[in-house]
Parts: sequence; C-alpha cells; structure tokens
Amino acid sequence: MTSQYRVNYHLRAHKRDTLIEFIKGMLLTPFVLHAQPQPLSESEQQAKHVHLNLHRHYTEEAQEANTQRYAEIFSNIEDLISEHREFQHQGIGGYSRLARLVPSIGTFFTHLPLQQAFRRVDQRDRISRRKHVPPSFNDVRRILNIAQVMAIAPDLQLVTFDGDMTLYADGQNFEQDNELTHLLISLLRRRICVAIVTAAGYGSDAPRYEHRLSGLLKGFAQERLTPEEVGQFYVLGGECNFLFRCNPAYRLDYVEDSQYPSSLRSWTDPQVQQLLDVAERELADCVRRMSLNAEILRKPRAVGLVPQAQQQLTREQLDECALSSQFALLKFQGSPKAQPGDVPIPFCAFNGGNDCWVDIGNKLIGVRILQNMLGAGPQSTLHVGDQFLSTGNDISTRTACCTCWIINPQETQSMLNELELVLSARED
Ligand code: IMP
Ligand code: MG
Repeated sequence: MTSQYRVNYHLRAHKRDTLIEFIKGMLLTPFVLHAQPQPLSESEQQAKHVHLNLHRHYTEEAQEANTQRYAEIFSNIEDLISEHREFQHQGIGGYSRLARLVPSIGTFFTHLPLQQAFRRVDQRDRISRRKHVPPSFNDVRRILNIAQVMAIAPDLQLVTFDGDMTLYADGQNFEQDNELTHLLISLLRRRICVAIVTAAGYGSDAPRYEHRLSGLLKGFAQERLTPEEVGQFYVLGGECNFLFRCNPAYRLDYVEDSQYPSSLRSWTDPQVQQLLDVAERELADCVRRMSLNAEILRKPRAVGLVPQAQQQLTREQLDECALSSQFALLKFQGSPKAQPGDVPIPFCAFNGGNDCWVDIGNKLIGVRILQNMLGAGPQSTLHVGDQFLSTGNDISTRTACCTCWIINPQETQSMLNELELVLSARED
C-alpha cells in the first residue's frame, strides 16, 4: 500500500536530506521533554518565598543536563556511522543499523566526531539553551560540517570548491576584497591542492575564467606565491569539461585533454548534441507550460533556461524545470529510475538559484578527474558547495569524496577558519 506518508515523502524528496532529517528527529525528543523550564521544587519555593507553583525556572543544572542529552545523541549517531563504515568495508553496508534507519544513506569516507563537533558548535551558538526553537536543519548541517573538517584535516590533500554561492554571490566575480583569498592562499602554502569545480562553462576561454577569478589571482600575485604553490591551483569549468591550471605569472593555462587522464569523459560530440536536443525540447516545454519569462541558451556542452532581464523565477518553477529535464534525459537513455550519474552519458540537470541548466558530465566526474591526476583518495579530498539537494549540482560529489554543505560564502569562510585552527593546532 502506498501510504500518504510515502506519497508526501516522494513529493518532497528533492527538498530533503535524509540523514539530516533523521538526526533532527532524534534531537526532538529531549527538546520536547527536557528543554522546557521546570516548576520550582517545594524547598526552592520556600527559599524564594514563592507560594504559587506557577513560578517556573530553568536552572543551570537543567540546562547542562539538556546539553548532555543532545551530546549523547550525537555520540550514539557517531557510533551508528562508525558501525556503518565497518559494514561498508566488508561490502555489506546495506545491513548496518544506519542503513535500515536511513535507507538512502551514502558512503562515509572518514570517521565523523559528531559529539566533539556538537560541543564546539553549541559553545558558540548555544543550541541546547533554546527553549522554543528545536535544533534545526541548519544547526545539524553545520555540526556535520565541523565534524567533517575535524576528521579530514590530518590527511587533507585536495579541496574542491563550487563557485557561485560558495566563493562569491550568484553570478558575481571573485573580487579583490573577498575575505576568502588569504584562506585559500593558506591552503596552497600548506601544499594542499585547491580547485574550483564550477558549472560555469566557457570552453577553453581562459580569460573568461580569469575575469571571474581576477581578485583571487591578484591576491596570489600580491602574496608572491611561488610557482610550486600556484601550480597546485586548478579550475575545472562546465562541471568536468574544461581544465585550467595556474601558471607562475598568475594566469590560467588551458590544459589539453591529452595532458591528463580524461577518459572518464568518454562521450562523443554527436551523442552530446542528441542529448542536449532532448534537454532543450524539455526546457522549451517548461517555458510554454508554466508561461515562464525565460529564454533557452545552448552551449557546446550545456543547455540552460535563464530568466529574461530583471525577471526572477521561483524555486518551485526552477525545481520543476530541473526535475522535468532530469526525467526526460533518463527516459531517453532508457533508465527512468536511475540517477543522472548512472546512465551511459552522465549529465547534471540542476536548479542554479535563478536559472536551470543541463550540463553534460557532472562534478562527480570533475572531482574524480582531479583525484586521478593528483593522486588524492576520497578520504583526503573535500568538496565544498551549496547545492546538495537532488536538484543541485554538488550532490554528485558525495560518491567521490568528503563534503561540506554551506549556504553562502560567509559559511565557507567560517568553515575554512575552523580548518585553519585544526591544521595549526596539529603543527604546534
Ligand atoms: P556553480 O555554482 O559554480 O556550479 O555555478 C552555477 C552557475 O553557473 C549556474 O547557476 C549558472 O548561472 C552559471 N553558468 C554559466 N554557464 C553555465 C553552464 O554552461 N552550465 C551551467 N551553469 C552555468
Ligand atoms: Mg553553487
């Protein structure tokens, strides 16, 4: 029987992250039962000369006990994840307790110190002191990020960043006053490779990418980074299609396909154009069906739906476009139930915030290309991005590496500050 719950679940799946929802659900019990003020005990009423039992308070001990309860839940979830990792190593991940509780659970490439991360975030945000607002999706997301940063720091070799909304605002450039510059430079100086893996696809046109990243490249020049340091900085545009490397003059060089292992992109131009024709027809149908004030842009490896000047599309309209084109392309490739990465020509159909794009290839392939080139394993690669729902373009990286889900460049900054703290502490 298809229950109403299941129907609702499926209708909302593109707006949910199952692990975060699960953790949020676990934290709700102590919040409901214990985060409320307690009535005064009889002796306290006498001591305070209060005669009515209406006087309620929230003692330091009660608050501390609640913090402890939240911490225990994080510790238990940490254990569930560790057990799931053990099962995964034995090739029976689907049998773990966590897999039964959260059937769509993916792969964890490192241990996650969730209890420690919770205490760190709670010290700053005082989540456990809230009486009326339970631990939220964003609280849990930030705790998972901190845990991931703590766990990966000792082995970190490669950090890949999404562009729009991760390093700079949507459609903007990386300006010279961007506070992330010194944090990215610090990674390069520690001999950690840095790559921007972005959907923005301008073919082999290095000056277009240099223009969008001009503030960062100027920062490299001002800090006089050595050729070895800047040689560890890459840009991968069009999700996985166009690779650039920074040269000693702080400019980007296009790297020809023959110069690196690019066999993961094993598609031919006629195949690509056929697929883009299907996507273009579907997006045009969305424009007609929903009377969108938008136009369709076709590129050699992508097709996009972009609002007309001064127009904004709603999240629902863009999700509809992304899911419609996802389904059309899966059906065309004969696998309507597959994931966009598991078909003969992998693609990425996503809601970009104020536009919708269908790109050939995806960031999973992008990250894997860089990992192969640089010899970095999943447990030493971290992808930072803002699009981890099923209509986003960062989610595919979860199969290849560890991830941090941020929602704006300020969060990227605070996540990198945490990473800096952990890395410096290890050096002392
Ligand atoms: P990202 O967040 O860095 O992956 O960039 C996503 C944004 O890049 C999209 O929302 C678009 O606005 C922009 N963009 C520019 N060219 C392309 C393209 O060829 N494919 C997909 N997105 C593109
Ligand atoms: Mg983005």
